[in-house]
Amino acid sequence: MMHYDFLLPPECILRKAVSLDRLSIVFAVFKARLDPNQLRWQQFWVIESDGCLVALGQLRKFHLAQELGSLYVVKKWRKQGLGSFLVQHLISQATQPLYLKCVNHRLVNFYAKKGFIPIEFNDLPSSLKYKFRLSQARKKFLNGFVVFMKYQAGLDGNIEREFR
Ligand SMILES: CC(C)(COP(=O)(O)OP(=O)(O)OC[C@H]1O[C@@H](n2cnc3c(N)ncnc32)[C@H](O)[C@@H]1OP(=O)(O)O)[C@@H](O)C(=O)NCCC(=O)NCCS
Repeated sequence: MMHYDFLLPPECILRKAVSLDRLSIVFAVFKARLDPNQLRWQQFWVIESDGCLVALGQLRKFHLAQELGSLYVVKKWRKQGLGSFLVQHLISQATQPLYLKCVNHRLVNFYAKKGFIPIEFNDLPSSLKYKFRLSQARKKFLNGFVVFMKYQAGLDGNIEREFR
């Protein structure tokens, strides 16, 4: 059972992506300079308003893990709760322990409020250690900013599910 803190504005619809969304997804990911890996439209959820995509996000698949990624909200729709709504929805859809990589200070807090906690690189599952090895090297040797986070059920007080 999932309780959402944020409600969608009435003109917005949450739905699974369809193949017609492919171009919009790729366009948004490149525009926002997000991770271009695994842009399979089948893994995406989108929010649509008036026939246009206004937000998107996905769950990437790894061995024994998933990664919440490609979170994007069109500029004029930001700060209205769409990003938070989508994160909560993606959490509810995850079937494996859920991780993410955060390269922006401000967003660590954003994800922490949704139940993600920072973890050490060594605590990542091996499939994600492999994916994130370059980010970790940048952090270690070039002082780049990166925080790895894991979803901890119950920490936001709303999500009533547990991963093992
Ligand atoms: C990050 C991103 C997805 C957030 O989307 P968003 O729809 O603006 O997110 P929300 O509106 O849910 O939350 C943003 C902030 O606005 C606040 N907010 C939410 N609804 C609000 C409202 N109605 N009025 C004012 N503020 C509001 C939230 O509390 C949140 O604050 P916090 O950062 O202190 O938690 C969006 O900024 C984006 O697309 N950025 C570019 C791509 C990117 O960086 N993606 C993340 C990759 S890890």
